[in-house]
Amino acid sequence: MIIAIDGPAASGKGTLAKRLADHLGFACLDTGLLYRAVARDVVRAGFRLEDIWAAVAAARALQPQELEDPDLRGTAAGDAASIVARIPEVRAALLAYQRDFARRPPGAVLDGRDIGTVVCPDADVKIFVTAAPEVRAQRRFAEFEARGAGVAYETVLADIIARDARDAGRANAPMAVAADAMLLDTSNLSIEAAFDAAVGLITRKTGH
Ligand code: CDP
Repeated sequence: MIIAIDGPAASGKGTLAKRLADHLGFACLDTGLLYRAVARDVVRAGFRLEDIWAAVAAARALQPQELEDPDLRGTAAGDAASIVARIPEVRAALLAYQRDFARRPPGAVLDGRDIGTVVCPDADVKIFVTAAPEVRAQRRFAEFEARGAGVAYETVLADIIARDARDAGRANAPMAVAADAMLLDTSNLSIEAAFDAAVGLITRKTGH
């Protein structure tokens, strides 16, 4: 069984995907980390993020164990990711890994921007997680505060708005709600309530 969770920046899709995977006994892949890691490797190799050749080479060379890197979680890494994510050849190079992961028995949860539309159009369940930009910024700001990252709320909000525009506006695999996706607005929901709502959607769709 494949569960696709898509949504804009800091919508809570990563937390939700992990909770659902634990609950169902499924594997979980945060596909945003793939793009974040590609951007990191381009910069480490001394190239510009817009360098298509360097980004494609980094995407092709990416190893899954290189995703366990706390530096990938920051605002700069998210911004950088959305620049390399516009390159069609980078997306193509990451596709097979994501699709193989999705087929892991007994099931997998993948979260990102294009899981329900491009990576797994045949997913059994598709959920598009949203929340008001201010709510998302507040949540991410609290996460950064807890880690002592020292970023201003206004900076986090501006970053989220800019990144959403870039992700929704790109020509290739833009962030979009799949025609058969169920919407989950978490603006007024706690993590627990969002999880319960998602379990309800999955049960209704699959009987699990
Ligand atoms: O956690 P957050 O929502 O802030 O971001 P993320 O899911 O880690 O994704 C970082 C960036 O990677 C996004 O802004 C997208 O540009 C890109 N991305 C993508 O293009 N396709 C995906 N399936 C996942 C992420």
